[in-house]
Amino acid sequence: MSSTRTLIRGGLVITASDEIHADVLIEDGRIAALAAQGSAVSEPWTADRIIDATNKYVIPGGVDAHTHMELPFGGTFASDTFETGTRAAAWGGTTTIVDFAVQSVGRPLREGLDAWYAKADGNCAVDYGFHMILSDVNESSLKEMDRLVEEGVTSFKLFMAYPGVFYSDDGQILRAMQRSATNGGLIMMHAENGIAIDVLVEQALAEGRTDPRYHGEVRRVLLEAEATHRAIQLARVAGAPLYVVHVSAEEALAELAAARDMGLPFFGETCPQYLFLSTDNLAEPDFGGAKYVCSTPLRPKEHQAALWRGLRTNDLQVVSTDHCPFCFVGQKDLGRGDFSKIPNGLPGVENRMDLLHQAVVDGHITRRRWIEIACATPARMFGMYPKKGTIAPGADADVVVYDPHTEQTLSVETHHMNVDYSAYEGKRVTGQVETVLSRGEVVIDQRKFTGRAGHGQYTPRGTCQYLG
Ligand code: URP
Ligand code: ZN
Ligand code: ZN
Ligand code: ZN
Repeated sequence: MSSTRTLIRGGLVITASDEIHADVLIEDGRIAALAAQGSAVSEPWTADRIIDATNKYVIPGGVDAHTHMELPFGGTFASDTFETGTRAAAWGGTTTIVDFAVQSVGRPLREGLDAWYAKADGNCAVDYGFHMILSDVNESSLKEMDRLVEEGVTSFKLFMAYPGVFYSDDGQILRAMQRSATNGGLIMMHAENGIAIDVLVEQALAEGRTDPRYHGEVRRVLLEAEATHRAIQLARVAGAPLYVVHVSAEEALAELAAARDMGLPFFGETCPQYLFLSTDNLAEPDFGGAKYVCSTPLRPKEHQAALWRGLRTNDLQVVSTDHCPFCFVGQKDLGRGDFSKIPNGLPGVENRMDLLHQAVVDGHITRRRWIEIACATPARMFGMYPKKGTIAPGADADVVVYDPHTEQTLSVETHHMNVDYSAYEGKRVTGQVETVLSRGEVVIDQRKFTGRAGHGQYTPRGTCQYLG
């Protein structure tokens, strides 16, 4: 890359720890220096490009640690490819995603990981890393985990849900946790009791309860709380850390909070859909609820206050999207007359930074907490800090100029995700991404896409930076 200098001038730089009116100098793709506005820089900075951020925020690019581009699920594929999904991420101010490579049952981790490297390679607009989904824990996949940790795939998702697909039994979970206790990997848990849920699904369908809203009813809060409790106890037995993904229920959060109160290295993530949507959406008429089918499911509105509180008290540390879009027409459709056949997942990679800024406007969290849960902590949790997740000398110049004043309406008409609906259709939010830099390259320029497929680089990760 030729030597280029970019100066972002006049903005309020917000990180997880500070807010400072400062100019940001970028050189060769990295943050070179910050200078407080009004401070005496001996020679004023020169630059090839000057970006005016007066009255704007200057924030680190978002780190979305939970996406599923092109995920094969329920007989179809998530509708965003790495190309379309990472472009939408850039539009939304997210400059790093961590997606999930999938092990097929009976196959090595290596094969799944290589397949996902190939899907992403040359296609991404922003940087990306991978977690590995363990679908088949056995002697050889346990050994492979060690090699993946060394290679930069340092986190492993296990499922207590989806029997016959991704499901692991308690013995497999314990063994994978024991392995992660020695190799430094972090187990990410989908905590729902899938065996019990499948009984309730069968009973609901037999009784003619086939609408999307029953997806929420059979995936009971108690079965998320029970699985969360069980995952915690198994991790304690294994002496392993644990990260619970997509926490949606107050009772599950209480299990996590209790474990954290014991001083254990357990972590939790929630997603915008659990903070802003509810079972009311799942009950939308004419099969409209199918748009909101995901697992863990949306919960009654009352759970939202507990999740916001958890984000404030740090019982939840990360907000990721679990971006896993399926079109309403042709994909969600597969479950007309049988909610269990609706592919699970919601679009959101483009909306996360804006929705969480709206949470600042609404008074749920502070500006610095916004950056902490959306940028800094996910980067630390998954071994990428301070390269990602902050604005500091030496960090990658992944920077967003954010206009906190402009109002916008979230809509399928204006979003860039490859999906035929918005989960937040018509929602008014205050704030908008204006300009985005990824490693110093402008990929969104005053709300025009100037990036390209292939700019995004694979980011091998270190181990969780919250562990010893
Ligand atoms: O409904 C969801 N969350 N789909 C994606 C797969 C998963 O469990 O994260
Ligand atoms: Zn100000
Ligand atoms: Zn999951
Ligand atoms: Zn997921």
